[in-house]
Amino acid sequence: MKIQFSQSRPQVARLVAQVTDKGKVPAGLDKAMTEGMESARFKGNAGQVFEGFVEREGQVLRLAIVGVGDKNDEARLANCEKAGAALAAKYQTSGVKQFELDLSDSGLSSEEAASVLLGVRLRNWRYDIYRTRMKDEQKVTLESATVVGAPEGTEAAWDDMAHVATGVEFTRELITEPANILYPESFVARCQQRFEGTGAELIVLDEAEMEKLGMGSLLGVGLGSERESRILAIRWNGGSSGEAPTAFVGKGVTFDTGGISIKPGPGMEDMKWDMGGAGAVAGAMLALVSRKAKANLVGVMGLVENMPDGKAQRPGDVVTSMSGQTIEVLNTDAEGRLVLADALHWTQEEFQPARILDFATLTGAMIVALGHEFAGVFANDDQLAKDLHEAGEATGDRNWRMPIGPAYDKLINSPIADMKNIGGKAAGSITAAQFLQRFIANGTPWAHVDVAGMVWSDKPGRTWGKGATGYGVRLLDRFVRNTLES
Ligand code: BES
Ligand code: MN
Ligand code: ZN
Repeated sequence: MKIQFSQSRPQVARLVAQVTDKGKVPAGLDKAMTEGMESARFKGNAGQVFEGFVEREGQVLRLAIVGVGDKNDEARLANCEKAGAALAAKYQTSGVKQFELDLSDSGLSSEEAASVLLGVRLRNWRYDIYRTRMKDEQKVTLESATVVGAPEGTEAAWDDMAHVATGVEFTRELITEPANILYPESFVARCQQRFEGTGAELIVLDEAEMEKLGMGSLLGVGLGSERESRILAIRWNGGSSGEAPTAFVGKGVTFDTGGISIKPGPGMEDMKWDMGGAGAVAGAMLALVSRKAKANLVGVMGLVENMPDGKAQRPGDVVTSMSGQTIEVLNTDAEGRLVLADALHWTQEEFQPARILDFATLTGAMIVALGHEFAGVFANDDQLAKDLHEAGEATGDRNWRMPIGPAYDKLINSPIADMKNIGGKAAGSITAAQFLQRFIANGTPWAHVDVAGMVWSDKPGRTWGKGATGYGVRLLDRFVRNTLES
């Protein structure tokens, strides 16, 4: 959606929104409004909306008052987002195309105002391109917001945040696309389109090149698919020249049937978003590149489709990864780690990164452990885990550290190869992380973020409707701001 700034009231806007702190009433409101708020028990809690009608200069306007909660609430920025999101949710399909956001007496700082706008924009996103027979009342009507009376500095703060919103939206788009539309090659093509002219460098490996590099682990996963596998790297050198980049690596399984170890039918459609890690990396890179982040970065995506077929790999097969380590594939449904093994190794060989953060919808067990509130973080470096946690708390992309160690590592030893791709029943998310760690060389600082419970939501949330959340983009953007740019 479009967000613009203006010095004066846009004549066309018949809906005006104002924000208010908890327990306060905006000055100069009509009696019908103040008494209406009272009788509707409007308190100004974050995200609470009261709507009334007022007459201004002979014109009847819809006036929406939205609460941003207590001024001293430690979740102040999140509350501001919530207020913006509440406005978008209420008016998205209301018939209103444009509204005026009057911040003149809001008392908000520029940062708080930008948070309100971020909430409006992110919550208003929806992807309806395949719905050709929607009734008018179902369609999104809200297209733009015009901000009037913004505190000084809001426009600059928003210019910056708008790039982050663009990244979140791109991630959501990639995650929402079905697997017949979005497969490894079309994922690459879409990124090539979106990054054109941004100054980022895109590197693509096809199957022949991966074969030459010895990526038997990644390629094994794609054997059953008619779609060719790809590796995509997006490089951005916005930092000091010669400084080692920070690498983001994403699991991009564009559809995960489980392969020969096939998954049960009900719910299998969810596995179109098994590329959510790669989607987060692509969107984060778009945000960072668009806002010209002052950091050297590379985003690497392992793109593969996992299908059952006469050519598919079998349980018990032994594959050789690019690192030379061999893997007994006991379960073809534990494919994400096989893809990441080669993507992680190649990333280190090719870019010698200073640190690596990988994102993957890796295990169902992660959802059992943490539900949909926190992603799981597995790290060999305390500072990295701490930085991720802080960035998560600040942006709402929350994450919680999980343990790793030698006692878990030995659970994936194999009698026939260097390791097997599954552990036992216990600690499924941890043994998956241990597997990945075997592909991290020289103690490079590394964090694995299992986002299985975070990329998709069955119900509307903070700044999203049902569906793709865009998890990871704001986390990485903030991580880069806090640790590489300051
Ligand atoms: N993509 C799945 C994990 C997943 C499941 C993510 C549900 C989101 C929702 C992954 O490839 C997988 O199938 N993992 C298996 C591992 C098992 C075979 C060791 C799992 O979690 O069941
Ligand atoms: Mn799987
Ligand atoms: Zn998977």
